Amino acid sequence: MPRFWTRLLAALTALFVLILVARSYNVSAQFQFSWPLAVHPDGQNEGLQIPLNTGKSADMTNAHKQGQATSIAPGTFSRKIVAVGDLHGDLGNAHKVLEMAGVVTEEGKWSGNVDFFVQTGDIIDRGDDTIKLYDWMEELRAQALEKSGNVISHLGNHEWMNVIGDWRYVPQTEIKTFGNPGARQQELMTGRIGKRWAQNYSTTSRLPLHPSLGEPNTDYDPSDKSPLSHAAVSFVHGGLSPTYPDLTPFPSKINDLGHSLLHKLQHRNPPPAPHPPNPYPGLTHDATPAEHRLYETNGPLWYRGWALESEQKVCAAVDAVLQKTGTRRMIMGHTPDFEKIVSRCGGKIVIIDTGISHAYGGVLAALSIEYTLKPLSEPSSSGAKRWTEREVVTAVYMDHRDVLAVNQREIEGSF
Ligand SMILES: *[C@@H]1O[C@H](CO)[C@@H](O)[C@H](O)[C@H]1NC(C)=O
Ligand SMILES: *[C@@H]1O[C@H](CO)[C@@H](O)[C@H](O)[C@H]1NC(C)=O
Repeated sequence: MPRFWTRLLAALTALFVLILVARSYNVSAQFQFSWPLAVHPDGQNEGLQIPLNTGKSADMTNAHKQGQATSIAPGTFSRKIVAVGDLHGDLGNAHKVLEMAGVVTEEGKWSGNVDFFVQTGDIIDRGDDTIKLYDWMEELRAQALEKSGNVISHLGNHEWMNVIGDWRYVPQTEIKTFGNPGARQQELMTGRIGKRWAQNYSTTSRLPLHPSLGEPNTDYDPSDKSPLSHAAVSFVHGGLSPTYPDLTPFPSKINDLGHSLLHKLQHRNPPPAPHPPNPYPGLTHDATPAEHRLYETNGPLWYRGWALESEQKVCAAVDAVLQKTGTRRMIMGHTPDFEKIVSRCGGKIVIIDTGISHAYGGVLAALSIEYTLKPLSEPSSSGAKRWTEREVVTAVYMDHRDVLAVNQREIEGSF
């Protein structure tokens, strides 16, 4: 059947040329390509593999106006947090985003202009700069500490995949940066990168907006009746599902599970042969049911419900999770929108993965949260000190900023 093959070849050539032409005319900028998102090894969430692209929130313009009126009065406490989502092996774009958001200088050093820099996981896979990015994160962590700043790092599903031996999204060119697959595996298990994951990365975090709530990752105390009891934000890679049974005490329950599972995986002896071409190794035989739940599609690493479910459904469910975790909003990566940071339910849910790696080509974006607690001169009728508490949540892009939420309230008490 030589004719069949000639036709097939002609069709493929035409397709190839079409793709080349489309790329050179920046077609991707005009209409959205859907890139495959990582598929959980169980394949349970295959029906949900579409990047989301919801409309702008209605109150955006109003919030934008309010966001401009920031003034710093004496006695005001302020805290600035910048968060960035999935980096996927692209040091160049990561640097651009951190510089744009004021976290680092042009030379890539800690600027001292923010209090917390948070990264929500998925530094690895799809690109080649794995080693450089993890090295840079440790440099920033050390530089930040010298200027009383903080770098808060999370493990995404891709960090976990690699330590499990699920190497479906590892480019061959990236393996070469380690030398060979064996050297790479050793590095991620008990080598330099593996030790950093175990020591300086967690699965989720609770970041206080005000220091009276304690250090980052202090558990929420449900008996706390202070007006600041929920003055905190949660970070996680995938999402804190409303039906995930191991949410509390938050965040230590999830992080303890993450810690014990990581230890089991990193000390698996012998280490599993990477998949593919070898079969998917799964978790270790001694992983507990709760450790399995941590890595399931409803668990904090893979959950996509906050990004993909209807507005009505997520906004009806979000308050219960915020209540249980002692937070006012939750911030996550994992499900990209290539055009913008997505704010839902008035900023209670913020999804910051914009596919900034060249592997996706999404918009370069970072999230900024500015918190201020400003004393008011007049005490309340009972003599208590009064304060204006304000949070401004902004999406920062190369050429503009969008204020996503402004929340202001008056509170009483000694803080
Ligand atoms: C494609 O987009 C990039 C970045 O926006 C731009 O620098 C380049 O000139 C564009 N190419 C074409 C052919 O329009
Ligand atoms: C974790 O971070 C601290 C603070 O920068 C640093 O001293 C330590 O060496 C890091 N751990 C690893 C394994 O790199």
